[in-house]
Amino acid sequence: MTFLGIDTSCDETSAAVVERTSDGTCLIRSNVVSSQIDLHARFGGVVPEMASRAHIERIGPVVEAALSQAGAGVDGLHGVAVTAGPGLVGALLVGVNFAKGLAYQHGLPLVSVHHIHGHLESVFLAHPGLERELPSLALVVSGGHTALYTVENGRRSARRYARIGTTRDDAVGEAYDKVSKLLGLGYPGGPIIEKLACKGNGNAVELPRHPKIGKTVNYDFSYSGLKSAVARYVASKNIAPASSHEEALERGDICDLAASFQEAAVEMLRWTARRAAKRMKPRSLSVSGGVSVNRYLRERFATLGEELDVPAYFPPRELTTDNGAMIAYCGILGRRSALSPAKALALNARADWRF
Ligand code: KG4
Ligand code: ZN
Repeated sequence: MTFLGIDTSCDETSAAVVERTSDGTCLIRSNVVSSQIDLHARFGGVVPEMASRAHIERIGPVVEAALSQAGAGVDGLHGVAVTAGPGLVGALLVGVNFAKGLAYQHGLPLVSVHHIHGHLESVFLAHPGLERELPSLALVVSGGHTALYTVENGRRSARRYARIGTTRDDAVGEAYDKVSKLLGLGYPGGPIIEKLACKGNGNAVELPRHPKIGKTVNYDFSYSGLKSAVARYVASKNIAPASSHEEALERGDICDLAASFQEAAVEMLRWTARRAAKRMKPRSLSVSGGVSVNRYLRERFATLGEELDVPAYFPPRELTTDNGAMIAYCGILGRRSALSPAKALALNARADWRF
């Protein structure tokens, strides 16, 4: 069984072909991602209208490339899966409409996929053995989301997810992006802050490392306090923004601040995940989403896994950012609830879809 997966939820136009062989193994036949980072970088963040326009220009060639790299024609597909939400509504609509047209024209079933479900399943696509290590505790960290889930075996080999914590304000990736902007380092902030942090001292600046514990202790995250603390520190020490990445790498004050921010940002995740794990006693841990590419985060969660005596899993780099492969895989998993080609025409994008 072969599925095409499409994701246009934010600033990556992506399409991929995933095949499920007769023994149940899922193979990524192609995974094409056209990033719009260069387009948005000079504005310091994603400009929704520009993202939609770029998706419109790129979606056709990206799908064509995914099919040709997979050595498949549309007639070799058994279904199409598309991210219907959450995300930027104009961006989502490009993928949804393209997928609807393709499904209708070629008589293919269409599966509507939640973007976060895609990130969560990306770990299973890369590490099928995780299926035998449920229940699991799964953290999704991206530019738009920070959420903690429990994962259990559900009916008919489907997995059951329950969200036990989410961010009350900014997502962790968003915090990286905002701190980067504050230091004059541009978008996206994650990769450059990670690089600077390698040269700095994570204990140099005292920053809040976990949410304030109120009377009701749950597993939510919060990044606005950390972000404000960084801004206050920058103002109080008169830290001037860097004029280039090269300059920033030579500046001890910026490297120390980046390292201290990263220490606090990752500790917030680890501290909350650890509390949840102590209570829920999962048999495994996983971290997925754009921020999960971060090496320091991976180290800290690998160590947490050792401490809890459970394995910790991460997707490979190409499955951390937004990609069509995780969506195609969700399509294969959700094929029983696919929309018929005629019904697919009624599918709409859901910018604020909850999972
Ligand atoms: O999952 P993703 O590609 O898009 C969303 O669904 O949001 O995640 C993008 C986010 C951005 O905020 C970016 O700064 C962050 O992931 N990111 C990183 C790193 N690389 C990208 N954060 C920390 N360290 C990194 N190396
Ligand atoms: Zn994402």
